[in-house]
Amino acid sequence: VCLVCALSMLLFGNAPSGMAQEKVYVNGIDANFPPFAFVDKTGKPDGFDVAALDWIAKEMGFKVTHKPMDWDGIIPSLNAKKIDIIASGMSITEARRKEVNFTEPYWKITQVLVAKKDSAATPETAMKDGQKIGVQRGTTEAKWIEENLIKAQGKKFELVYYDSAPLAVEDVVNGRIVAAAMDDAPAKDAEKKKPVKIIGSFGMPDETFGYAVRKEDTELLKKLNEGLKKLQASPEWDVLRKKYEL
Ligand code: ARG
Repeated sequence: VCLVCALSMLLFGNAPSGMAQEKVYVNGIDANFPPFAFVDKTGKPDGFDVAALDWIAKEMGFKVTHKPMDWDGIIPSLNAKKIDIIASGMSITEARRKEVNFTEPYWKITQVLVAKKDSAATPETAMKDGQKIGVQRGTTEAKWIEENLIKAQGKKFELVYYDSAPLAVEDVVNGRIVAAAMDDAPAKDAEKKKPVKIIGSFGMPDETFGYAVRKEDTELLKKLNEGLKKLQASPEWDVLRKKYEL
């Protein structure tokens, strides 16, 4: 804060007119998508995407905070201006491009099935008629399975919807569902924390993650792209990958 502004705030309780308050961008995160986004024991947002965006904001000279929220409906929240950025493991898709703009891709992911550690299931036997497969609501994997395996191929397993990937993993552990479909990054994270294992892929094409912004926020998009490029060229990129075990 400049000296005049500080004095003015002291005397009049606000910044001088014409003195714009500095914009703080709000990044909406799914608080249950480790290692890309999560909240720590004290409730503080953390994760690879959170740390990367903090670095980019500092480098590019803007301010950012992180707001945990429901994943399903996060794009409508962005367009309703409740948040300004989604840097939280979001796959870039043509369908989403109709609603938001994405940065350049910064991460490649592959979809996998997670089953109990002692399970003999393969993707083929897990996705058999009458069996239950878990998936996070509002994800590309949910949509792809519905459209391709259930509608087009007529498979008759039951898709069970969860608010987060770890919740689906919980039901794998307690045996309510045979397997859960998710990105490989949260799946590998689950393998480290729970008695589960990746049993393979189910045929969904690979995707990439990008940060999303509102269509009209072209300046912000430019800053994010430039910042991402700088981060990927800096030693910090590998520091963050190691820190979040990616
Ligand atoms: N690939 C999926 C998608 O983009 C999963 C993303 C889940 N990310 C998250 N933060 N929950 O829809």
